[in-house]
Amino acid sequence: MQLIDGKKIAGNIKLEIKKEVEQIKAGGGRIPHLAAILVGHDGGSETYVAYKMKDCEEVGFKSSLIRCEDDVTEDQLLKRIIELNNEEDLDGFIVQLPLPEHISEQKVIEAIDPKKDVDGFHAVNVGRMVIGLPSFVSATPFGIMELFKRYNIQTKGKNCVIMGRSKIVGRPLSVLLSQKGVDATVTVVHSRTKDIKEVCAGADILVAALGSPGFVTKDMVKEGAVVIDVGTTRVPSDKTKSGFKLKGDVVFDEVAPKCSFITPVPGGVGPMTRVSLLNNTLLAAKKKIYS
Ligand code: GUN
Repeated sequence: MQLIDGKKIAGNIKLEIKKEVEQIKAGGGRIPHLAAILVGHDGGSETYVAYKMKDCEEVGFKSSLIRCEDDVTEDQLLKRIIELNNEEDLDGFIVQLPLPEHISEQKVIEAIDPKKDVDGFHAVNVGRMVIGLPSFVSATPFGIMELFKRYNIQTKGKNCVIMGRSKIVGRPLSVLLSQKGVDATVTVVHSRTKDIKEVCAGADILVAALGSPGFVTKDMVKEGAVVIDVGTTRVPSDKTKSGFKLKGDVVFDEVAPKCSFITPVPGGVGPMTRVSLLNNTLLAAKKKIYS
């Protein structure tokens, strides 16, 4: 069994990005710039956005945090988005989700210029990805694909079972894994799937993206399978300073001995998700997706 060290790979990618930024600077170019809009003061969102800003600093990107109060109107937020769409000095931006109930997430996402949509959530980017055009790809699927590449994990002709059909993980990953050149045979299972355990037990590559801690047990995993655990549920813990710890969807201790490769939680997919936003911002700055 080989542990997939997402933390190490993400660290390597950050160094690669940092080098590119230094080259851009040395050549007199403009350094990549990412902005995040944060509405309100939700604890989780505050933490995630703080990490995103810190990641930018680490690789030498410029970053901007734009705060709006909880009672910002949808119109005010949409106006702010249009301003950012038109800001020449800005390569990409994200609106941290979730948003307060009085604001439509879909309207907000559709207001972002696809060329600056480094989250890859806009329908234009999702559509372009589906038909195989260059596009911004949402961070977690992008990060998982990068892990397959960097660990030289073969996907061609493999049976891949993705647990969960979310817009930002399961569905886009199913498209990426089945595209030409990657060539996996993909099954997406969800809450209404019959015989879920048996389907999972047939997987050469099993991706658990349910947000259901400890759902995947050893009887659901084939001997020699590759297991990717996307779950990051916060559970209370008296052993950490923060008072919680992250728990994956996979019962790691019993599943790991059966695997050829497995990602831990934390330290597997999570760091790759974070670094993918930097990757997308660099692609935006270099005009690699929309030239
Ligand atoms: N909330 C949780 N994950 C994400 C993400 O990847 N992007 C945005 N914008 N909000 C999130």
